[in-house]
Amino acid sequence: KNIKPSIILIFGATGDLAKRKLFPAFYNLYLDGRMPEKFKIMALGRAENSDEKFRAYVAENLNEFSRNKIPSQESFEQFASHITYLQNNIDEEASYQNLKVQLDTTDIAFGERANRLFYLSIAPSFISTLSNNIKKLGLAANPDQDRIIIEKPFGYNKSSAILLNQLLSQTFREEQIYRIDHYLGKETVQNILAFRFGNSMFEPLWNRNFIDSVQITVAEEVGVENRGAFYEDTGALKDMVQNHIMQILTMVAMEAPTSLQADEIRNRKADVLKAIRRITPQEAEHYTVRGQYDHGTVKEKPVSGYLQEKGVAENSTTETFVAMKFYLDNWRWQGVPFYVRTGKRMQEKQSSIVISFRPVPHSTFSFGKEGMMPNRLIINIQPAMDIRLQFMTKKPGLSLSLRPAEMVFDYFSCSTKSPEAYETLILDALLGDPTLFMRSDQVEEAWDVVTTIQEAWENDKFLNLHKYEAGSWGPEASDALLARQGHTWISNTYNEVKEQA
Ligand code: BG6
Repeated sequence: KNIKPSIILIFGATGDLAKRKLFPAFYNLYLDGRMPEKFKIMALGRAENSDEKFRAYVAENLNEFSRNKIPSQESFEQFASHITYLQNNIDEEASYQNLKVQLDTTDIAFGERANRLFYLSIAPSFISTLSNNIKKLGLAANPDQDRIIIEKPFGYNKSSAILLNQLLSQTFREEQIYRIDHYLGKETVQNILAFRFGNSMFEPLWNRNFIDSVQITVAEEVGVENRGAFYEDTGALKDMVQNHIMQILTMVAMEAPTSLQADEIRNRKADVLKAIRRITPQEAEHYTVRGQYDHGTVKEKPVSGYLQEKGVAENSTTETFVAMKFYLDNWRWQGVPFYVRTGKRMQEKQSSIVISFRPVPHSTFSFGKEGMMPNRLIINIQPAMDIRLQFMTKKPGLSLSLRPAEMVFDYFSCSTKSPEAYETLILDALLGDPTLFMRSDQVEEAWDVVTTIQEAWENDKFLNLHKYEAGSWGPEASDALLARQGHTWISNTYNEVKEQA
């Protein structure tokens, strides 16, 4: 699709996200011929800098972080000629006056009023000033052409998210606001919808009559890295559950949309968030587990504990691991536990969904039901990208005994080239397709789900706080949460069957 001439304004262009994700995404889209014919990237930052120096900095980062490296200086220069650096002070009106001149001049050079994409990769405390100034100078006055992308965290609880939505609505219409959750741009997350609604054989089983439980794991090997100070005020619940995990859960649990219209899909997802049973403060102890990593060994490398990380208070009670159980109050899912967990410094990086079907009602085999593994469907999101259907088969040999087996679809069997999440999402924003972005009501509902838990934890800083060894699968209490209902976490989602067979 032909995209109108576009100006992309990156606020926070010298920050970490721009360096690791945004510039690589624009560069790869450019190499794929996906950028508009006429476009300009205005990189905005507080420090003084020249175009030349900034472009050299971008080149350096592309070589480190982009999936396509720079083949030659010449080819990079073509891309770099679209980038300009503008010194900008978010608090100063003069900066916006200057920006207006730059925008108008670019429109003249393009021969038409270009689309404007404001990318906010800045601390949330700056959003209000920025948004007010954009309004004051009429920089985003054309609702059909001007859009704003907002990074997480979108607020820090339900009421702050509502306030932020109200604030943005004074400058932008809802259809101009693109609240980004990069998990929605991941190929394998989008594939959940393709798999569920592009096939007829799974959906009839996709409900409480056949499914026993659902597990969602988002485990990381990394610790808090150099983000200790930020993480202290955030913790795993706000960093991962309120956004990424909630979004995965909605993809697994939503009803079939009648079309691929953005609002149709977003309505179905919002329905799931509304159906999640809210946990009361008294239940927080029973339904949630918080953990914090202690020192240990990850992939054979000794690592220190959370309390020893830079920027972390020595008596911090911030959680780096969460496990919890949700129920959905609707016809499809009544009574089916949805277990979710996420943590830093876990045994391995792994995001996966495990759908466990009900056990056979009666075993014909002499060894009874114990030796039978219930059917499972495993969707590996990353780093493995596959779908596995696990079932029982006869063990080759003279006796009639069984063993688990699996059928595997590997995403890479069809393509070795997979776009990064940010490429998909930025392209959608340039095209004006908000399907994979969160609407205001979704963000508020997701916050509503976690706010009670957050408050219960804030009232009792030690409630459910369990230490776990770095390099493990989290605290024992997390296993106990499932064991209470006879369930266990499935951690080796891509070699478990091999081990058992
Ligand atoms: C971010 C969190 O949103 O997601 C980080 O703030 C986390 O703490 C990251 O490490 C994980 O993203 P990915 O794509 O590496 O799974």
